[in-house]
Amino acid sequence: MNSKSTRSINWERDGFEILRSQHYKDKIIDAFDSATIASWHSALATAFGKGTFDHYSMGNRIRCHTDCRVEPDGFLHFGKFKPYMQPLEFNPITGGQVREYSEVHADLLSNDIFLALINDDIEFTQINSNMNLAKTFIGIHLMRYAAKRNAPAYSSPPWLHKDKEEIVFIHHINTDDRMIGGDSIIATSEKEISNVFKLERHLDSFVMSHKVFHAVSPMGSADEEIAYRDIILVTFERHSE
Ligand SMILES: [Fe+2]
Repeated sequence: MNSKSTRSINWERDGFEILRSQHYKDKIIDAFDSATIASWHSALATAFGKGTFDHYSMGNRIRCHTDCRVEPDGFLHFGKFKPYMQPLEFNPITGGQVREYSEVHADLLSNDIFLALINDDIEFTQINSNMNLAKTFIGIHLMRYAAKRNAPAYSSPPWLHKDKEEIVFIHHINTDDRMIGGDSIIATSEKEISNVFKLERHLDSFVMSHKVFHAVSPMGSADEEIAYRDIILVTFERHSE
């Protein structure tokens, strides 16, 4: 058997890591009472429901976005701190264009489980990179893929790419059973795909560095109803100010 096919994923060597639902259940969810867990799910429903259709490129996505700054005492400060843009070299579809999305709803930004999730991403970044939090932009993106039978949903750009941000977390929130596709793809180059996997359970996640390319396979609906897939992206980008 090819040893490469059986070895476990290693952040240092492979530039990405899969963080399963169980990690978040053990570390975050189980620390909260049932009322807080219920408020987390209702805040997610509110926030994803308030997103606006992404008209900047094709692919049937509903989005919202906010920036996050970590204060010296660890307090997370949310707001719109800078225009959102991907450079053209990272995104040939919408690169170079400032994009405006609605803000992430306050119910989610103030939710204790959401804050614990962001703090867990921050902790991972501090342990596994040399990024200085005082000089890091954190971006929070809610992305709802909305696929119909004859109108698929897909990412922008639609195939293998890197984001400009150095570290990116993808947290899967929920996918409707009727959805087809949505497989996560990691590639060491634009010619060599190294991993294909599925984020299925609530909070199944992965994190990647600039070492790898990524993509998600296009999504469709298996019946006449719209199929939704909700994810939260948390991005970390150095700045020099
Ligand atoms: Fe991306």
